[in-house]
Amino acid sequence: MFKAEVYSTRRNKLRKHLSSGVALFPANNESPVNYPDNTFHYRQDSSFLYFFGIDQPGLAGIIDFESGEDYLFGDDLSLDEIIWMGHLPSMKLLGEKAGISQVLPYIKLSAYLEDALQKGRVIHYLPPYRDDTLLEIARLTNLPWEKVKPGASLALIKGVIALRSIKEPVEVEDITRAVDTSYEMHTTVMKMAGPGTYEREIAGCIEGIALSHGAMTAFPIILSMDGQTLHNHYHGNILEQGRLIVTDAGAETVNHYAGDITRTVPVDGKFSQKQKEIYEIVLEAEVSSIDKIRPGTPYRDIHRDAARIIALGLKDLGLMKGDVEEAVNAGAHAMFFPHGLGHMMGLDVHDMEGLGENLVGYSEEIQRSDQFGTAYLRLGKKLESGYVITVEPGIYFIPALIDRWRSEGKFTAYIDYEKVESYKDFGGIRIEDDILVTDLGSRVLGKSIPKTVKEVEDMMRS
Ligand code: GLY
Ligand code: MN
Repeated sequence: MFKAEVYSTRRNKLRKHLSSGVALFPANNESPVNYPDNTFHYRQDSSFLYFFGIDQPGLAGIIDFESGEDYLFGDDLSLDEIIWMGHLPSMKLLGEKAGISQVLPYIKLSAYLEDALQKGRVIHYLPPYRDDTLLEIARLTNLPWEKVKPGASLALIKGVIALRSIKEPVEVEDITRAVDTSYEMHTTVMKMAGPGTYEREIAGCIEGIALSHGAMTAFPIILSMDGQTLHNHYHGNILEQGRLIVTDAGAETVNHYAGDITRTVPVDGKFSQKQKEIYEIVLEAEVSSIDKIRPGTPYRDIHRDAARIIALGLKDLGLMKGDVEEAVNAGAHAMFFPHGLGHMMGLDVHDMEGLGENLVGYSEEIQRSDQFGTAYLRLGKKLESGYVITVEPGIYFIPALIDRWRSEGKFTAYIDYEKVESYKDFGGIRIEDDILVTDLGSRVLGKSIPKTVKEVEDMMRS
């Protein structure tokens, strides 16, 4: 946890966005795997962490916008729980750590909210993404369960997005730590990779690195020779000479800030000429996108520029043809680059995605495109100093997509399908870093992870 003032300051800042009613922040509960006491690794709700900091289930926080009071609801452990789980800090101490003096047993939460409802006060809450939380909100607010999600407070959502989007220095330090752990994970992939090794041996090791730093991964590890599948969580292949491995993996810190890094490396430690040609295009798109990051620039424009660099590079290789500008405007590049350039990152790897992707990543002025590929861009709006974002262009050869578009005769003016046929077993390449938007431009966070062809090959040799 950070110091108590961090949390009380954040709660007070939220008061500048809402002036009436109360905000209810339910903590996440334990989540069972296959029977009630056998649970997944516990993960607290990110907005609860942001405003209250406490990494435990069985709690709820309240911010009262009229009285100015904050409350923490939860119970001290019973003797039985102490026997099984050991001594955990008392609720009073947890309240102090979060800067809250009003600490009450959980059972009193219903009466507190009932009283608020009877006085006609609005109970603001964020959209729940877990069903048990949804049902608890339904119970506490007397709403039928199907009305809970639509009843989430837009004013609270907007207030939380405004605060969480601009990272404080302590948050940037934490994200930097997450990237530094991710450095260890990715350099371990580079050192372990080799023909005959199972993907799962490497995936297991790098997950262990995240755990050994006291937290877990920020999202399930993507590591595969079949990097053309964008989120490939299958790790059962034996690595083969001549193939590439895409690893998209990042650690969380103990405070639960994310890292999200992708590197693509050759199984045998040396890129072939064909791999190098595609790799250099992706690298140019990544580096030049980072160079363009500054406050006021719409991320949608940087995404488009990356698409142009990719289309131009593919044209030079004879995989695309025709006018690059027209091809990108038409969306032909998306057969090779079918996702967005990046997203916000913080307490969630796709930061605040549960609050609504368009509310987080778009604005009145810049609305989401519905064109295939660009429609997956999670962040399009103008960048602001204090945002932490990812930059992650890629080029992929997805046989199902190639076959479908070819059979439909799609974009034949811009894609040389005959040439593309010879790349259908290529896989994919993605390169990703985590970037802080600064007043003047940007800063790549964390230790520099080998990225050029030479750096990757040198690390793999070591
Ligand atoms: N790291 C996975 C993603 O950004 O979607
Ligand atoms: Mn990412």
